[in-house]
Formats: sequence, structure tokens, C-alpha cells
Amino acid sequence: MSNDTKVALVTGGSKGLGKEIAYNLAASGVTVIINYNRDQESADEVVHHIRENGGQAHAVQANVTEEEEVERLVREAEQQAGRPVTIIVNNATGPQPEYSLEDVTWEDYLDQLHFTTKAPLLLTKAVLPSMKEQKWGRIINIGSEVVELGNAYFSNYVTAKSAVVGMTRSWASELGEHGITVNAVHPGFTPVERHGEVSEETKSSYMSDVPLKRMGEPKDIANAVRFLSSEDASFITGQNISVNGGKTF
Ligand SMILES: NC(=O)c1ccc[n+]([C@@H]2O[C@H](COP(=O)([O-])OP(=O)(O)OC[C@H]3O[C@@H](n4cnc5c(N)ncnc54)[C@H](OP(=O)(O)O)[C@@H]3O)[C@@H](O)[C@H]2O)c1
Repeated sequence: MSNDTKVALVTGGSKGLGKEIAYNLAASGVTVIINYNRDQESADEVVHHIRENGGQAHAVQANVTEEEEVERLVREAEQQAGRPVTIIVNNATGPQPEYSLEDVTWEDYLDQLHFTTKAPLLLTKAVLPSMKEQKWGRIINIGSEVVELGNAYFSNYVTAKSAVVGMTRSWASELGEHGITVNAVHPGFTPVERHGEVSEETKSSYMSDVPLKRMGEPKDIANAVRFLSSEDASFITGQNISVNGGKTF
């Protein structure tokens, strides 16, 4: 399938890593749907930037943790693009608060699971019929290195991101025969807008056990996602790939 017939839906594509993933996919000739929830201005800026650079993009608002909104998102995405969605990047995330075990609640766990498992499940089910019909699809889940690090006071997020590992393998086993690959990219700490100004001290402390001795940049994550969504990655499925300079193996 050539890139100009592919449609990628990037959840949370208006900011941070999702924005860079959208830019990177669009630069490869894929039509990109920029999903966002609240901040239309940022989503419109991403669309504008892609179009200015000769790419194809459309913004579609939807809360990806709600079933009816996900169904509408896929409908609108396909209307805007004029073709079915062939690539999903499950990237959206909400606030990620840290709690001690004394303070954390089951609802705090659910808040994270809604993004890491519920939203990807709803979205995948919505596009599965057309992916199966075309016998081609790419599902890329965005996890985190925290599943290896097991960060303290963050069990809500670590638990929810850990689910991505097994979910990715199970979906890959089930969907391989339909020409659909499922992989996960696990970023390390990659400063984006929401992190504000990150101090040199924080960066040095983080980088001290990063073999490649630098911070990750959004384009590092986006390059991995673009590769996994390409024809070159057609024999790779069920994999959990850390993109963190070797901080975890
Ligand atoms: N950056 C890192 O250091 C890092 C490290 C490891 C893993 N990750 C993972 O990488 C992914 C991207 O993280 P990020 O740091 O780039 O996040 P971010 O900058 O906070 O961006 C979050 C995006 O998600 C959207 N969003 C929020 N709630 C939504 C909802 N209910 N429905 C649809 N979209 C929604 C936001 O749109 P609105 O603003 O319009 O709501 C925004 O576009 C996440 O899965 C995160 O866990 C990030």
C-alpha cells in the first residue's frame, strides 16, 4: 500500500509527542488525522503546519475515552480523509498525578487505564472491520519506560502502562493473519510543552544512567513510530520497543 493512500489517526496529536508523530507521518506522505480533546487552537496549528509543508491533515475533536465519541471520531476521520483509517497511534494521555499507596484510589488507576487500554480498545474495534477488509493495518501503542523502571509513587500510571505490553502481544497474535501489525513504542523521559523548563540538574540526574548520554527528543519517538507504520516494518509485530537511549533493556 503506498503512503498517499494511507490514513493515520494520531490520538492526542495536537501537542507533545503526538504532534511530532503527526509531522513525521505527514512528511512521509500519509494523510494524518490530528485528534485532540480540548485545545482546538493547538490542533489547528498542527494542521496548518502540515499543510504549509505540503502534507495532508485534518483535526477532529473527540474524547477518546468515551465510546460514542470514538465512533464519531472514526466516522469524521474517514469523511475528512475520504478513505478508511489504516494506521492508529494510541498516544493520548491525560494528567498523570503521583500518589503514595496510602493516597491512591482505584479510580486513580481507572483514570490511567481509560487512556492506556480503554481508548485503544474502542478505537481498534472501530477500525478493525475496514483494516480486515483491506488486509492491511498498523496499530502502534505508546507506552512508557516506567513499565521497566517501576517508579515509586506512580503505581496508577505504571500499572496502566504495563497493561500496554501484554495487550500489544495479544492483539498481535490475533490480528497477524489479517495483515495487521501491532507494536508498542515505550518512550523515556522526553521533555515536551507540558514539562515546562526542565532544569539542568533534573536532566543530568536522568541522563546519568542513559548509555547514549542525552535526553530523548520528540523526533526520536516519532521516527520509531513512522518506521513501525511503514512497509519496512511489515515483519515486525507484538514488539515492545524502548526508545530511551538504552536506559532500560
Ligand atoms: N513526554 C514524555 O516524557 C513521555 C514519556 C513516556 C511516555 N509518554 C507517553 O507518550 C504519550 C504522549 O505524551 P505527551 O507527553 O506528548 O503528552 P501531552 O503533551 O500532555 O499531550 C497530550 C495530548 O493528548 C490529548 N488528550 C488529552 N486528553 C484527551 C482525551 N480524553 N481524548 C483525546 N485526546 C486527549 C491532548 O489534547 P488536548 O490538549 O486538546 O486535551 C494532547 O494532544 C502518552 O501516552 C504518554 O504517556 C510520554
